[in-house]
Amino acid sequence: MRTNVVIIGAGPAGLMLGRLLELAGVDAVILERKNPDYVLGRIRAGVLEQGTIDLMDRAEASTRLHAEGLIHHGIDFSFDGDRQRIDFSALIGRHVMVYGQTEVTRDLMNARKAPTIYEAEDVEPHDFDGKSPYVTYKQGGTTHRIDCDYIAGCDGFRGVSRQSVPQSALTLYERTYPFGWLGILVDKPPVAGELVYAHHERGFALCSQRSPTRSRYYVQVPVDENVEAWSDTRFWDELRLRLSPETAENLQTGPSIEKSIAPLRSFVAEPLRFGRLFLAGDAAHIVPPTGAKGLNLAMSDVATLADALIEATIEKSNAGVNAYSAKVLQRIWKAERFSWWMTSLLHTFPETGAFGRRIQRSEFDYLCGSQAAQQSLAENYTGLPS
Ligand code: FAD
Ligand code: DHB
Repeated sequence: MRTNVVIIGAGPAGLMLGRLLELAGVDAVILERKNPDYVLGRIRAGVLEQGTIDLMDRAEASTRLHAEGLIHHGIDFSFDGDRQRIDFSALIGRHVMVYGQTEVTRDLMNARKAPTIYEAEDVEPHDFDGKSPYVTYKQGGTTHRIDCDYIAGCDGFRGVSRQSVPQSALTLYERTYPFGWLGILVDKPPVAGELVYAHHERGFALCSQRSPTRSRYYVQVPVDENVEAWSDTRFWDELRLRLSPETAENLQTGPSIEKSIAPLRSFVAEPLRFGRLFLAGDAAHIVPPTGAKGLNLAMSDVATLADALIEATIEKSNAGVNAYSAKVLQRIWKAERFSWWMTSLLHTFPETGAFGRRIQRSEFDYLCGSQAAQQSLAENYTGLPS
């Protein structure tokens, strides 16, 4: 088989790239290790920047998003019970949309006309340093080969694409955090109209939502925590302790329909192009989830990559593919900085002690009193221009 682009991974990055190429008349095959139900079963991000919404429009996959997505004009911060709203619309005239990653993925799956090859095992990119790359995979015991012009590695942090690059060609930047987020999904109305990011000496908490009747909550837990140790009752009790009394009073609890722990990590690989292989999304970088940037960053990578691959295939110009890595890394590092900053402000770091807590408090007080600081937060949270 031959195609223009083999995309490895059918998460949001791979599906969006496939859709943008398809609409431009560039052939692409997507290879995904798991089945569609497994991909849709992963509960992850929930907040979309305007740039991601625009991209869903371009992908002609946004009808449901515009009907069901919830426009949020601000977020609420709570620091040891003291509250501050950040009003995006008043500060910078922008907003975000609450619409789950699962729904984005489902809409992109439904929009795609060309088939996606699910349950592809042992996917391996080959010869991307030369002019004739190809990808092999196994299905039902048979090995298949797809020849192509370009390979897009959209296969997440643990995917094969980045691992196929000689380690000497990569520079990795990484910070791990000694905690993770324990998340719970529940069919109850959200505790507040907007998201609440809470710092408490017991640890961070986040009140998020998926719809007027479905809520998503997180609490900071040690990185080695076992999810089995958290009954629903323990989760709700802990969450209440970390919220302001007025917010805790409004909390509607119920049986969890999903519960999992995600570790927090900051990670960037450089560069993001190796001959005819490109890395995009979580394959290239990870942000801690605090700034809600992971999905949005993956989408902005593939918007740039799609334009570059369309230009290379249709106009036979390499300008876009040559510029890809440097261009997207600019934006990636800004999102890394913001996510690290939000994480540092809101979590408890046992190793920084009383001094660290006073610095966090002072950062929060500065935010409350400075319109410039609030504007900076609003601009980063709603998404910097590409
Ligand atoms: P992924 O969504 O990881 O998709 C990669 C795809 O590649 C997967 O479908 C995978 O099965 C497939 N794949 C992997 N290896 C192979 C292989 N060898 N061959 C073929 N296919 C392969 N971001 C937020 O903003 N907020 C959050 O709350 C949040 N929570 C998260 C929780 C978890 C547990 C994780 C892991 C991430 C979370 N993120 C969150 C980040 C956000 O979900 C990601 O940034 C986003 O999913 C990136 O999309 P992607 O398509 O690049 O990667
Ligand atoms: C959600 C996740 C985030 O990381 C975040 O900052 C906001 C919302 C969510 O899952 O809803």
